[in-house]
Amino acid sequence: MVWAIRLCLQNRSIPEWWLIVGLLAFDSIYLGLDISLNRLFARRLSFPLFARLRTTALEKTFQMPLEWHQRQSAGALVAKVNDGVGRVVQNGEAISRELCPSIIRTGFSLVPLILFSVLTAPVLLIAMAAFCWLTVLENRERDGYRKGRHAKYVRDSGVFSEYVQSIQPVIQFGQAGRLLGEYQRLQQQIMDEGLEEMDVAHRFGWRKNMVLSVAKRLCQGIWIWQLRQGRLDAAMVMYLNMLTEELLGSFWGYAGLLERLYEGLEPTRVLLELLNEPPEIADIPGTPPIPVPPGGVSVDLVNVQFSYKRDKQVIRDFSLAIPEGTVLGIVGRSGSGKTTIQSLLSRLFDVEDGRILVCGTDIRKWPLEQLRGVFAYVSQAGGVFLSDTSVADTIRFARPDASLREVVEAAKCACIHDDIVRLPHKYRTRVRRGGSNFSKGQQQRIALAQALLALKDNRKVVVLDEFTSHLDSETERRILFNMAPWLAGRTVIIVAHRLSTVRHIADRIVVLEQGSIVEDGSHEELVQRNGWYAEMARLQAVV
Ligand SMILES: Nc1ncnc2c1ncn2[C@@H]1O[C@H](COP(=O)(O)OP(=O)(O)OP(=O)(O)O)[C@@H](O)[C@H]1O
Ligand SMILES: [Mg+2]
Repeated sequence: MVWAIRLCLQNRSIPEWWLIVGLLAFDSIYLGLDISLNRLFARRLSFPLFARLRTTALEKTFQMPLEWHQRQSAGALVAKVNDGVGRVVQNGEAISRELCPSIIRTGFSLVPLILFSVLTAPVLLIAMAAFCWLTVLENRERDGYRKGRHAKYVRDSGVFSEYVQSIQPVIQFGQAGRLLGEYQRLQQQIMDEGLEEMDVAHRFGWRKNMVLSVAKRLCQGIWIWQLRQGRLDAAMVMYLNMLTEELLGSFWGYAGLLERLYEGLEPTRVLLELLNEPPEIADIPGTPPIPVPPGGVSVDLVNVQFSYKRDKQVIRDFSLAIPEGTVLGIVGRSGSGKTTIQSLLSRLFDVEDGRILVCGTDIRKWPLEQLRGVFAYVSQAGGVFLSDTSVADTIRFARPDASLREVVEAAKCACIHDDIVRLPHKYRTRVRRGGSNFSKGQQQRIALAQALLALKDNRKVVVLDEFTSHLDSETERRILFNMAPWLAGRTVIIVAHRLSTVRHIADRIVVLEQGSIVEDGSHEELVQRNGWYAEMARLQAVV
């Protein structure tokens, strides 16, 4: 603009409206370019990068073994992804959208400055180098604080989400005040370290400001000297002063950009670590699908050994052959390894020693997706309840294409249909987080309906882990009766504490004790044997 005004002042024949129109044209071109660049970056960079990174992170999360998930809280994992993806996208935007325009702006100020006042060039270049060096030093010193702060942010999110997930016991035990106190201590740590980091930033900020101030005052002294020598006029001094302000201001732009890049380094490192984490349980590339016989599926465990932690063996020398079409009951004390056995079948964990064969093939040779497609589960932890999904879609979880008629059939078998039709919106009722708008027994029956509906989908092994533990005996009896035709021809593994759950339905029952089979036989045989099972049968009055 100063150039244009100078031109008009020097050439008085140029009409003023030319200047106005010229400047307006410049404004609109500049604005248009800015908007087009923004749109280009949003379309080609920000949104695709955001979507790609988040999808990859979720895909990786799905691939990781259960043990990996159990090591960290869901809130901490989400925080790592949110922060990492946010920073990568922000830094990508900052580099592509701010760096080029900043360099152009610096050039527009630096070139005329060097042209019209070459004496100030060394001063400005030295100032620029000193400023950059101080910025690098500052960010190195702040790096340790940033790592600590980021780790605490992740912890903060983990703690926050765990408290929210445990809201009911927290309130009922009256522990909200204590947890709030602990949370405040964490916040205080974040604040204290943040303030220490700010002190470093202020110390370097002062030094950088002084470097720029010295450079500016030196330049001003040189111009006054040049003015007195008659080498510059007053207008040129004002113009050069304005360019210098602009140039020195652009240094702060670079410093801000560098600071943001440094700020993003730790979250980006954590995200990359997450994305590059090798899934311990994964398909061997090129694993061919296993031919599944049209009839049932057999499951064999041969000398299986397994421990979650090295020092504590959970499953010891475990051998069990389950021919196709068998209904097997697994009972035993709490903690004896019943749930662990069923987790090993679908490779949520891998055995340490021994083999598990499905259809005669070691499960490590099965493509993972095909292997998991063979099983239908009701897990001890309950069914899948995704927030804001209708009851019908919740039951359809493992078979989204099932018709409403099929959903109703499964619900009737699981004795949950009557409960659903009593709801104001019936099968369209929305499920709340974790199924919290249903009782535990209703959740268990919905979980069973999910598993039963999945059965139509070629799933030939049914694993039911404590699937009636929240139900009254009468409902359990009706469900066991209804299920008979659904389970016909399938291999069924039922884990139960209540012997009534397995007594009539199971062809064979095994009793587990510290990860080994200690009793094996039919209900009658086990009662005759007078061991743990017989004792339990007497206590539970199912003899
Ligand atoms: N994810 C885990 N990490 C470490 N140890 C575990 C894990 N899950 C279970 N365990 C341990 O393994 C042992 C067997 O647990 P498992 O859940 O298989 O028992 P269970 O027979 O199903 O018990 P319950 O009848 O109470 O459900 C227990 O001692 C338990 O503490
Ligand atoms: Mg269990």
